[in-house]
Amino acid sequence: MDLKQRFQHAYPGAFFMKNEVRAVASYLQGQGWLNQNEELVSLEKPGAGNMNFVLRAITNQRSFILKQARPWVEKFPQIDAPVERVAVEAKFFQSLEKIEAINQFAPSCLGFDAANFILVTEDLGKGADYSFLYQKDNLLTETDIDGLTQYLSALHQVAIPSDFPSNLAMRKLNHEHIFNFPYLEENGLNLDEVQEGLKAAAIPYKTDAALKAKIKACGAIYLAQGNHLLHGDFYPGSWLKGTDGLKVIDPEFGFVGPAEFDLSILFAHLLMAEQPSEVHKAIYKKYQQPAGFNEALFSQFVGIEILRRLIGIAQLPLSLDLSTKKKLMEQAAQWIIEEKMAI
Ligand SMILES: Nc1ncnc2c1ncn2[C@@H]1O[C@H](COP(=O)(O)OP(=O)(O)O)[C@@H](O)[C@H]1O
Ligand SMILES: [Mg+2]
Repeated sequence: MDLKQRFQHAYPGAFFMKNEVRAVASYLQGQGWLNQNEELVSLEKPGAGNMNFVLRAITNQRSFILKQARPWVEKFPQIDAPVERVAVEAKFFQSLEKIEAINQFAPSCLGFDAANFILVTEDLGKGADYSFLYQKDNLLTETDIDGLTQYLSALHQVAIPSDFPSNLAMRKLNHEHIFNFPYLEENGLNLDEVQEGLKAAAIPYKTDAALKAKIKACGAIYLAQGNHLLHGDFYPGSWLKGTDGLKVIDPEFGFVGPAEFDLSILFAHLLMAEQPSEVHKAIYKKYQQPAGFNEALFSQFVGIEILRRLIGIAQLPLSLDLSTKKKLMEQAAQWIIEEKMAI
C-alpha cells in the first residue's frame, strides 16, 4: 500500500494533500479559503519538517502555509502518529491569539479543517529555522535570547484554557522516544551508522539500572497532568527567523505539563549546539520561573533530552565529534543521577 492508499484506507473520503496545484486549488475553493479573484499559482516545500506534510501556497494575492497531519511521522512513515496533533496545534494558536506577549512570536491561524487534518497559517517568510545553531560558531543573539525567554515566560503564565486537549497520544509517542526506546539494548537503530563508535559509547547508558530508574520516574512526570501550558517541542527546529524577527512554530506536542520541561529542552539544545555559558546564564536569568519551579527536575530533563538526541532515533544535524558526544553524555547522566546541574 502506498501512503495515499494507507491514508484513504484509514480516512475514506478525506483529502490527501500532495504538491499538486490543481487538486489543492479545488480543495481551497471548496473550503472557501480563497479570496475573490484569488488563484493558486504554485506550491512549494517551505522547509524541512519532521512530522507532517507542509506546503507553502502562493497565490496571485499572497502566500500562506498548509499543514496536514497524517497518521504517521512524515520523516519515518513506519512510525504511527496520532492525527489529532493538528487540532492541538490549531487550539494552541487560537487560544493564545489574544495574548500579545505570545502572539507577537506566533503565526496567525487562518483556518482549520478538522475533517481533513489541515491547518492554514500565516506565512512567516522564507527565513531558516534555527538548526544553523548546531553548526560551529553560530551563536544566539541577545535579541534571540530576549525573544525566547519572553515567549516562554509568558507562555508559562497563561491561564490554562479549560478545553485544552490532553494530547496524551502524542505524549505517549514522545515518551517512548525520549524515555524508553533509546535505552533498549536492541532497538533496531544502528548508532554506528550515525557515527562510528557511537554504538559502543551508548552501552553504559543502556545498561545502567539506576540511571534508567531515574529516567523512568521523570517519564511518569512527563505523562502526568501538570500546571502550565507548554509548547512541548521547544528546540531550534521550532524557531524561525521570520521577516519580522524570531517566531515560534509547531506546537503540536503542546500540553498542560511541567514548565521545567520546555526550559530543559531549550537548555539541552544550547548545550548540543555548543553555545557559550554566557548564553545559558542569560537565558536562565531572563526566564521568569513560575512558582514552584523544580530545579532538580529541570536538570534531569536537560540530561534526558541530551541522551535521547544522541542515542535515540530523532537525531539532529550536530557537528560534534565522538569524544565531545561522550563528554556530553557523561554530564547528562550525572545531572539525571544527581538531580542538579551547574549553569
Ligand atoms: N508559518 C510558517 N511560515 C513560514 N514557514 C513555515 C511556517 N510553518 C512552517 N514553516 C516551514 O515548514 C517547516 C515545517 O513546518 P513544521 O510546522 O515545523 O512541521 P513539522 O511538524 O513537520 O516539523 C518549518 O521548519 C519551516 O521551514
Ligand atoms: Mg517542525
